Amino acid sequence: MSLAGKRILLIVSGGIAAYKALELVRLLRAGGAAVHAVLTAGGARFVTALSLQALTEAPVGADLFSLTEESEMGHIQLSRAADLVVVAPASADILAKMAAGLADDLATTLLLATDKRVLAAPAMNVRMWEHPASIANLATLRARGVAIVGPDQGPMACGEWGFGRLAEPPAIVAAVAALLAAGPLAGRRALVTSGPTHEPIDPVRYLANRSSGRQGHAIAAALAALGAETTLVSGPVALPDPPGVAVRHVETARAMRDACIAALPADVAVCAAAVADWRVAEAAGEKIKKRPGAAPPALALVPNPDILAELSAPGPARPRLVVGFAAETGDLLAEAAAKRARKGCDWIVANDVSTAGGAMGGAENTVHLLTAEGAESWPRLAKDEVARRLAQRIAAVFGSERKT
Ligand code: CTP
Repeated sequence: MSLAGKRILLIVSGGIAAYKALELVRLLRAGGAAVHAVLTAGGARFVTALSLQALTEAPVGADLFSLTEESEMGHIQLSRAADLVVVAPASADILAKMAAGLADDLATTLLLATDKRVLAAPAMNVRMWEHPASIANLATLRARGVAIVGPDQGPMACGEWGFGRLAEPPAIVAAVAALLAAGPLAGRRALVTSGPTHEPIDPVRYLANRSSGRQGHAIAAALAALGAETTLVSGPVALPDPPGVAVRHVETARAMRDACIAALPADVAVCAAAVADWRVAEAAGEKIKKRPGAAPPALALVPNPDILAELSAPGPARPRLVVGFAAETGDLLAEAAAKRARKGCDWIVANDVSTAGGAMGGAENTVHLLTAEGAESWPRLAKDEVARRLAQRIAAVFGSERKT
């Protein structure tokens, strides 16, 4: 992706992930961007100004009260000269300062003085990330239009496991490119569900279905490519996380539902997941043993929450556009139209899952788009192409009311 001619102001705050800022600079520059780096005092404990200076080939700002820095480029000018301000890694501390509007060093002063969009890539311990203070700060920043990439889920330097890992540098670059490209969905938030859900029977067994997640993942990638700040809530799949997309990994329908609600507000929601309609009423805490002569266990099922119907329900949190999928084996269009009405969503993407070389798990899909205006049939297409077309259609809905 080209970042030619773009100017990035990169603020590196403290944290073990700060070393990844060097790789980020390398990738941004490889994409053609000019990078001006600013180190916080915390950041300077983890990477040196010299490394950043060598990689950016530009002076590195660190001190608000430096006479030389101010005479070369004043901090107000520095904050305005960039096309985009990137905070990576963004520590809990700098996010709190940004939310509060503090300006007690060069980095936070630039963040308060800038008139450009800001992208923050949080990185911190999982408990710090999940603390109500961090959650509130993030909500404040998002509401002000700060774009967020990551954090990722996984093992952390502190030995714990969970959310808090800095997004990988290629994902941060993809988010930078999406924001700078000012695609038709820039400034919009998208929520996508994808993959199957696993409903536990006991600690080792579960109910599932054949969904691969390919279509949902492709839709998340396509929306992000058009500039939407995209959250993908994915059930268990064997696919890599799409770059530039915030991915929440879940197992059960209930966890998927909770992750979707947590990801709101969104301008558009696309429910492509094959959510299990039922779960076992009471999953066994211990592995169910087969006793000689005993009858096989009977599984009592209870309904799962219907995420699409919940997101479609009228109310202040309802995304402006809600898109569902209908996987049918019978009278496709009639069933899909009924589903659209029943669930209350705006559009339904209907696909026949009974066709040979079926859509479930395959790389191609034959779909029909049902809107309030009626149904249109698309030719058989690669799932990536279905995703691109759908993203374009979604962008057209928002195209007339461009956000500033
Ligand atoms: N869906 C959902 N939550 C559920 C079930 C389904 O969000 N608990 C969403 C799917 O992501 C999809 C749409 O609803 O967008 C249709 O799912 P589908 O399984 O085809 O329909 P069902 O609701 O199961 O209806 P039916 O069993 O009649 O086909």
